[in-house]
Parts: sequence; structure tokens; C-alpha cells
Amino acid sequence: MTIEVNTRAVATAPRPGQCLRTFLREAGWFGVKKGCDTGDCGACTVWVDGEPVHSCLYPAHRAIGRQVTTIEGLAAPDGALHPMQAQFVAAQGFQCGFCTAGMIMTAASLDQAQLVALPRALKGNLCRCTGYRAISDAIRGATHVEEAEPGEACGRSLAAPAGPQVVTGGARFTLDVAMPGMLHMKLLRAPHAHARILGIDAAAALALPGVRAVLTHLDAPQRRYSSAQHEHTDADPLDMRVLDDTVRFVGQRVAAVVAETEAAAEAGCRLLEVSYDVLPVLLDPAAARAEPADLVAELHGGIGDVAAGLAAADVTYAAEYETQRTQHVALETHAAIGWLDDSGRLCLRSSTQTPFLTRRSLCTLFDLPPAQVYVEAGRMGGGFGGKQEMLVEDIVALAVLRVGAPVRLELTREEQFCATTTRHPMRIKVQLGATRDGVLTAIGIEVLSNTGAYANHGIGVLFHACGEPVAVYRCPNKRVDGYVVTTNTVPAGAFRGYGLPQTGFAMESAMDELARRLELDPIALRRRNVVQDGEAMVSFRGAPDDVEIGSYGLDQCLTLVEQALAASDDAAPDGWLVGQGLALSMCDTIPPRGHIADARVALAADGMFDLAVGTAEFGNGTSTVHTQIAAAVLGTVAARIRLRQSDTDAVPHDTGAYGSTGTVVAGTATLRAAEALRQLILERAAEQLSVAVSGLALALDHVVAGPMQVGLSALAPLEAGGHCDGTPRSVSFNVHGFRVAVEPQTGELRILKSVQAADAGRVINPMQCKGQIEGAVAQALGAALYEAVMLDDAGQVTSRDLRSYHIPTCADVPPTEVLFAKTTDRLGPLGAKSMSEAPYDPVVPALANAIRDATGVRFLSTPIRADRIWRALDAARSAIPDA
Ligand code: FES
Ligand code: FES
Repeated sequence: MTIEVNTRAVATAPRPGQCLRTFLREAGWFGVKKGCDTGDCGACTVWVDGEPVHSCLYPAHRAIGRQVTTIEGLAAPDGALHPMQAQFVAAQGFQCGFCTAGMIMTAASLDQAQLVALPRALKGNLCRCTGYRAISDAIRGATHVEEAEPGEACGRSLAAPAGPQVVTGGARFTLDVAMPGMLHMKLLRAPHAHARILGIDAAAALALPGVRAVLTHLDAPQRRYSSAQHEHTDADPLDMRVLDDTVRFVGQRVAAVVAETEAAAEAGCRLLEVSYDVLPVLLDPAAARAEPADLVAELHGGIGDVAAGLAAADVTYAAEYETQRTQHVALETHAAIGWLDDSGRLCLRSSTQTPFLTRRSLCTLFDLPPAQVYVEAGRMGGGFGGKQEMLVEDIVALAVLRVGAPVRLELTREEQFCATTTRHPMRIKVQLGATRDGVLTAIGIEVLSNTGAYANHGIGVLFHACGEPVAVYRCPNKRVDGYVVTTNTVPAGAFRGYGLPQTGFAMESAMDELARRLELDPIALRRRNVVQDGEAMVSFRGAPDDVEIGSYGLDQCLTLVEQALAASDDAAPDGWLVGQGLALSMCDTIPPRGHIADARVALAADGMFDLAVGTAEFGNGTSTVHTQIAAAVLGTVAARIRLRQSDTDAVPHDTGAYGSTGTVVAGTATLRAAEALRQLILERAAEQLSVAVSGLALALDHVVAGPMQVGLSALAPLEAGGHCDGTPRSVSFNVHGFRVAVEPQTGELRILKSVQAADAGRVINPMQCKGQIEGAVAQALGAALYEAVMLDDAGQVTSRDLRSYHIPTCADVPPTEVLFAKTTDRLGPLGAKSMSEAPYDPVVPALANAIRDATGVRFLSTPIRADRIWRALDAARSAIPDA
């Protein structure tokens, strides 16, 4: 008996206990994805006899004699897309696309009744990128993508070039490649939060059939490195080893087993005998601050005299806020494949936001010249900053160099929670003072950031956290004191917002409380104190070096949200408490001290343009934006731009897809390359037509001069490059508003209205930019209301799967109205500013402020779970006699 997959019989029989998901992927159906292997995410959804199932839970042997349909089998035999696939293209119902195959398989099976109750019907399919609005629109048949005339690509909602591949399962993510002789790696992880490894007995593991190697600290380079990846590395302490003889958190790598099958590698790990000398554990960041060895860095600075400013104030406010650990939960876990090519060169295919920096780190770690290391990123299933980190490539490289064969490592969802990175939990003390008429006289913040067991991004995140939330307000007296410490806990790292969401929560909550004490409207207080166009923005560094207000839309954003909230008439159920609140944020559009991008554009003999950019696409939409910028400059249509990206052989250097730089830095490099090529084309045409360049016009296929013309193909080949060093930097602004209702007896929260206004400069692709904002809002709502990486008293992560670490489902995310300020940035490419991270920043404090307005309770920490709201309301009731 065989299993019929997409009308083809698969001859291989399933192994005992094998799930359908691995069976299908081993048979080459890479459209079937893995997001959890526990039935929680739906990325593996396929049909068995027409019924959708989670193939990770479905025993492969049960599919014998049945018909299995994967995303690859959904289209008609003539290649025509299934209507649901076409709808996902038309509405661009995806960003990274990792959830899309499963989402389409579920959606295509729904009947009319289920379509009416769509959020419920989608409860088994998670998406971390979109916030579900674009998915819901796709399923309901909305069309959002637009066409553009030649040269008119910018400002239009053009479709992502990869759309047809994404909806048919043809897009190749990191592990969607087959390689003969591939070995599998599994990692043994530490059971202690702090211990010295006394010895590892690998004899039994090595004797196991199929096991090819065991790697321990004795095999690893002595050299220390930072998993953080930055263009300039001097702020990232070198404190990690590929495999260390001391472990500093539960879940740290202890050893790696490389074997012919995953099962053998797992069994090998179980047979390793490790003896430990258990050491004292430090979990509390406040205690760590007193330990010189654990204080990674501190920063202090400001202007004026905060004590004098507070003394001069009519009203003051002081409180301590706390934010929790949250996880990126990119649906594609960290993964890499390594091999040696025919010349013996080390090659890596990895889910990384920084292929060029990863190559550089591997070269340093293993003493290899750049020419001996190649890194490529396939399509990436989400990143959110978590993949601006070298967490798998180093150990895969070590294994490849050791065994000389291809090696594959894919982290499980449990490893993702226990052993990758989180947002930095922070404690933030805020002091504010203002005169009676609402003019700020003092701002003081003290930040204690917990970077976990290793410093990696700790200093950079602290630096950023202490910047914009303070700098956005004018005040003569500002003081910032920041500390970042290590503890024996899972490391923190880069995560969307890079510190701003934490301190923004504290600052924007505090501003709301100050407004209440002043009996002023919170919007009026902000308007009175926010930085104005043309002013210097001052934080702990005094006036900053290369940050300018390239365009100013904060005033528009405040007005847009104010008007949207005022117009909101969503009714709350009888007896519910109703309130509204808002918060603002400012974000430097590029990280400091250099973010570098190079781009090349070439006119090919077929009249197409070949664009090569280094930055990686992980759902942030930069592929589309780059083709739009090039098409606009070259007077053509986006379909004429062939894009190559994130491949250290094929494209020029790029620092990486982080810090919201894909549009503003790589986009500027693309713009400059396209402008240079346009000039070359015109000069070559002028020569051929014997006219002045000024008399020429560039059209779709040719260059014209009056009645004369020359075809573009006749001018090929021509090539030009563009460079951007990421300076000077502009700022973007976001304002978020909520109207909420709270059920007083249960603490249940309903969001009646959610609105965000963004100053993104000139919006190059409105559909995509809206999608970025909606996705950020959904991710921030999870952090505001329930997401938390939980640790027990021994420092062990206890929220180890998607069921216990709940991310928003379709049913959890309210619609968000997205509005754009009308500005054009003088620094960004074609007037654009970045908008990937920034929309996250104001969401949590805006919600906290709305809940405060509704209930009277100021929550000083997140997440604001319904049970905490209920407890607070219950306590308030108990405090009122006879209530
Ligand atoms: S991989 Fe099957 S539900 Fe997540
Ligand atoms: S598009 Fe859904 S997880 Fe990325």
C-alpha cells in the first residue's frame, strides 16, 4: 500500500511512529512547514481525503491508502492557481509566508458557515507577521494589490515578487533543500543554571549505530565571540564559546551529536554522561547590579539639573515600572545547513538577518579568510531581530569542518523558548515634574536591564532604550542612568524596538499619570512638550550627532488619532467600564555608527534590470520596495526588475536586515545605483543618437530623442553601483490610540477601537506598510496582555511550547485603523522613512493608559492579564466600605 500525495503515489513506506509531516518533507514536499510539531501552529496543515489535518500530529501510516494534498497539489493540473491561492496573491495575505501554505490549506477547506465565523475557523493556524487582517481579507476575497505605469511604482501597493511562489509552496525557506548525504545534529543542553562541566563521557553515544561525531568544549575553538551581529562589534562583549566548559543558564549547549538520522542524534544525546560541578545561581537583576562581574555596562548623562527641575515643578510623579521577557516566536525556528563545496569552502545556508556579518563572525571564529566562507539566506520565516544573532551557524560550521559532510540543525520550538533569545526584561524608575500649565521641568529615568546569561545585545539595547523615549520631549532638565547586568537566565537579545518598547511603556504611562495630576488632557500635555520640527533631540548624550528631523509628522499623528478616537462610537456592553488612552513614540530610522549597504543594478541584454542587494527578506517587504525604487528611477515597471539578495557570493555587502534599515539604507543604496545606471543609459544613448543627454527621455523599452529612439537591449550591458553608510539619520513617529471596555466582575477586556497613525515619510508601498503596522500591533498586544517567558525558581524556562506561551490568534486581534501622516523625508530614499519596528513601540503604553482610564487602575508592569485586572478591581472594591 502506498500513500498518494498530490495524485502521485509515494513508494517509500513510512517509518514506525513517523508523522505525516516528516514523511511528506522527506518525499520533497517542502511546502509542508514545521512551526511547532505539537499541533499548535498549523504551518504543517495538509488535506487527507480532503479534510485538513495538522500533519505533525497525524501518523504517516494512517495516510496509507488515502489521498494527501499539500499546497503543491492545490493548483489545477494546468498550473492555474486554486481560487484561495489567487486570493492570497490579490490581497497579499502574507508577509514572511511561512504560515501561508498551512493557512491556505485550512482556508480552502472552509464552507460558507465557517467563513462567517472566520476567527474561530482559523484557530488552529497561527501567523506572527500579519496581525491576520490581510489573511482575513484574502480569505474573504478582497483585492489590495495594484499595478503601476512605467516609472510610477512608488506610492503604489505593488504585489510582492515572491507571491506566486509563496502561495504554491515553491518559495524555498532555509531547510527547503535536499542534499545527498546530509547528517543531522542534535544538542544536549544544560540542566543547571550555572555549573562547570567536569567531564563528558561520549563512549556510549559514539558506539550507537549512525552516530558520526560528538562535539564538546574540547573540540570547540578557545576564541570567545558575541552572538550579536553588528557592523561595529566593539559594544558587543566577547563572552561566549561555541561550546563552553561552564554553563550559565538552563538550556545552554553542552554537547552536539552528529548522526545519520535525527533519531540517532537524539538517542546519542541521551547517552552522553556529563558530570557537573554545580555553582551558585544569580537570577535577580537587582542583586546582579551589586556584583562587579555581572554589571556589563552602565551609562549616565543628561542636561540641566533634575533635582532643581523637580523642585521647581508644581506637580511631580514618580513610579517604578517593569516589563517581562517575551519571545519573537518567528514561525520558522533557527536553522542552518552547512557543507563544504567542491573547493573545500565552508558554505552555510541559514535563517539569518545578517548573512554578511555571520560570514565575518565565522571567519574570525575559525580563522578562515572571507573567500573560504559562503553564507546565503533563503526566504526567511520571520525574524523580528531574533535572527540578528548567530545561534546555530557556529555549531553547524564546527560540525561541518569536523566531519566534512553536510550537516543540518533545526531548533525545536522548545529549544527556541529555552535556548534562544528574548526581549530584555527591564525595571524602569521614572520621575517627572511639570508646571501647573503643563510644561515639563524634569525628566529622570533609571533603567535596569537584564540581558540574561550573556551580554550579546545588552549594551546596544540599553543605549537605545535610554534614547528616543526621553529625547522626544523637550525639557531643560533630563537625567538618564542605565545599567545592564547578566544573570543565570536565558539570554536576551535584539527584538523589534530594541529597548524602546520597555522604556516607552514607562515614559508614556508616566506622562499619562502626570496629565491626570495636572488635570490636563493627555494629548494636550504631549503637544505642549514634544520636540518640534527643526529642534535638536536631547537624551542622555546631550544633542545627538547625526540624527535630524528629516520630516516632521508627529503633530499630524496626534491629531489623526485624536480625531479617530473622537469619532469612535463602538458601543460597550451595559455595565462595562469604558476608557481610552494613547501613547506616542519616536524612533531613529537607522542604528547609530554606521549601517552599510551596497547595491548593483545592471541593464541586461534582454532589456531587464538585474538588481543585487545584500539585505535579506524576512517578511518585511524590502524585496518589493527595492524593486519599486529601482523601477521608479529607471522609468520601468517592477516586473522588469530581477532581484537577487542575501547571498555573500552574488550580491554586495550589506550590514543586515535589522534596525528597520531595509528601506532607508539598502533602499538608498538601490536608489543611488539606479540613478547612476540611468545616467549611464542616457549617456550611452546620447552617444548612439548623437544628441545631448538633456534631450533624452527614458521609456519602458527604449530611450527617445524626438522622433529617434534606441532600444534598451542595444545599450546593454551596463552596470552601476550605489552605496549608503546609514548617516545622517532621520526619525519616524507613531501614535497609537485605544478605546476599551472592561467587565468589572471578571476583568475581561474588549478593545472597542484601535488606531495607529504613522509618520513613515513618503509611503512607498501603502499595502505593505499598513501590513507592517498591523503585524506590529498584534505582536505588541500579545506582549501587553499575556505573552511572557516564564522561569521557575531554578532559572528554567517553563513556558516551553506555543500552548503555554500564547501568541495572538486571529480571534484575539481586533482590527486596527492605520493612518499615515503626509510628509516627505529629505533624508530617506524618495522621501521614505522606516516603519518595521516603530509601530510596536506605542502600543503597550497606549493600552495601559486606556485601561487606566476605564478602571482607575494604573498597571506598573506587563503583561496586563485579565486576572490581574480582575484582582486589581476586586481589591479596589474591597477597599471601599460597603461597596
Ligand atoms: S508544525 Fe504542526 S501544528 Fe505546528
Ligand atoms: S506571514 Fe504568517 S508567520 Fe509570517
